Amino acid sequence: MSVSDMLDSKLELDNKQRLCDELELNHVLDRDVSQLSGGELQRFAIAMSCIQKADVYMFDEPSSYLDVKQRLKAAEVIRSLLSPSCYVIAVEHDLSVLDYLSDFICCLYGKPSMYGVVTMPYSVREGINIFLDGFIPTENLRFREESLSFKMMETAEEFVVDKTGHYQYPAMTKTMGNFKLTVEAGSFTNSEIVVMLGENGTGKTTFVRLLAGVISPDIESDKMELSVSLKPQTISPKFPGTVRMLLLKQIKGAFMHPQFQSDVLKPMNLDNIMDQEVKTLSGGELQRVAIVLALGKPVSVYLLDEPSSFLDSEQRIIASKVIKRFILHAKKTAFVIEHDFIMATYLADRVIVFEGQPAISATATPPQSLLSGMNRFLASLQITFRRDPTNFRPRVNKLNSIKDREQKAMGNYFFLEE
Ligand SMILES: Nc1ncnc2c1ncn2[C@@H]1O[C@H](COP(=O)(O)OP(=O)(O)O)[C@@H](O)[C@H]1O
Ligand SMILES: [Mg+2]
Repeated sequence: MSVSDMLDSKLELDNKQRLCDELELNHVLDRDVSQLSGGELQRFAIAMSCIQKADVYMFDEPSSYLDVKQRLKAAEVIRSLLSPSCYVIAVEHDLSVLDYLSDFICCLYGKPSMYGVVTMPYSVREGINIFLDGFIPTENLRFREESLSFKMMETAEEFVVDKTGHYQYPAMTKTMGNFKLTVEAGSFTNSEIVVMLGENGTGKTTFVRLLAGVISPDIESDKMELSVSLKPQTISPKFPGTVRMLLLKQIKGAFMHPQFQSDVLKPMNLDNIMDQEVKTLSGGELQRVAIVLALGKPVSVYLLDEPSSFLDSEQRIIASKVIKRFILHAKKTAFVIEHDFIMATYLADRVIVFEGQPAISATATPPQSLLSGMNRFLASLQITFRRDPTNFRPRVNKLNSIKDREQKAMGNYFFLEE
């Protein structure tokens, strides 16, 4: 059945056109549902729910597969359902989206595949802070040993950051079918993480594959010869054997190394899946294995395409810290594509912004400072962020709130460490 027919079959509210506009579904209305990409399917599923008349609406991880702009748009669409006679329940791992989407937050804690406890509803700020602290003050209960913080410099301060290596890549273009990517020449150093930001379909994966030398630019002589390790966006496990066998086969050196074990393997929590068949792993487990595999190779440049997909909020924070620590410690470079804004901010030393028309043509800027890059990216989305004074996490300002208007008037879409 086509997208349009499916929507019509559930149509109870007079909002189809608005939903299709806001969720960018107009170009796929005639397409069969089985032909949709991950992001299109997610937006279609959200529309299917929003088009019905109900007392309670439920959304399980609505931000998966979406870029920053689409995530916030989806949050707005979901909030637009609210009326005095209905309410919405959502499960969400992207803390910025959760923050933007909710009025109240329940935290769930417990032991995976053993038990779970749901707290009473808290205000948004309180709920997220309880989750990060790992402590519920009203119950005097600690459910996690350590608290999670976003102070950007925390990790960096442990290291003497030496950026002695300087590397360059040339201006390039790459045509893929009807899409053209223009890459402006750029440079990077060691001990540096460059985060790539941009809407879906603006060529982020294409750029990473150019850097990896998996594909050649339009002018063959510009082809890159870097020594790289790539964690691809889509992970399709073909390996016949256990996680341990895979790690031994692909990254034996790192796997046996005490530093890699304590800095990467242990925090990524692969212990209890070590003897599981790779083919039976869940999405989140595969992602964790893929990140470890990518970091385990002895190269100069690590390319991580959407490492937070399929991870929960806590795993995202842990993975960010592991990546940051690893890059600084090994004095290497990483390029990371990331849509979770909190993770992107935590990781980024500098950012590349992808601008243009998704699926038509786009340009990748050279790596620029975190402040100017984030400002440019957020200005294009017309979103402003502030910083939580307690745990330094970035928070999206509600559209047209006082802070939102003030920051826009001054051109401060983003903040820097106080
Ligand atoms: N092999 C290909 N053939 C034709 N078009 C492609 C191919 N690979 C990617 N594209 C198109 O190039 C554009 C950019 O894709 P991609 O680099 O995956 O974007 P992003 O990672 O930013 O979402 C998309 O419109 C995509 O459909
Ligand atoms: Mg991609």
